[in-house]
Amino acid sequence: MEITVSRKAHFNAAHRLHVPEWSDEKNKSFFGSCNNPNFHGHNYDLIVSLTGEIDPITGYFIDMKWLSQIIKEEIEDRFDHKNLNLDCEEFKQLNPSTENLAVVIWQLLNKRLNHPKNLKVILYETERNFVEYNGN
Ligand code: NI
Repeated sequence: MEITVSRKAHFNAAHRLHVPEWSDEKNKSFFGSCNNPNFHGHNYDLIVSLTGEIDPITGYFIDMKWLSQIIKEEIEDRFDHKNLNLDCEEFKQLNPSTENLAVVIWQLLNKRLNHPKNLKVILYETERNFVEYNGN
């Protein structure tokens, strides 16, 4: 019997989406306000989900405290109140789009979780815009 457990997290970060090879006009028309030269912030909501078997003794699949601690250490401590472009190694060469941020978050968490638990992340950049990544 498989069950999915999820933990919600939140962080605020600034970014700028920009392709250096493109003209300023092309960047502005493609990325809109996310190309603002002096950056801008987003309130990111993150949902981390793991799927697996319930332990018949404890009735747990995973300990939520353990999961929330890993999310805090790997994601919130790393990205909260940061400028993704300037402060975060992960985005020195990578455009900090919601898509790329979701993949980076998945990779950081997957490295820590260290065994197959069918990890999925859903990252909201706004209330209405979100992306999903499950490692595929
Ligand atoms: Ni933006």
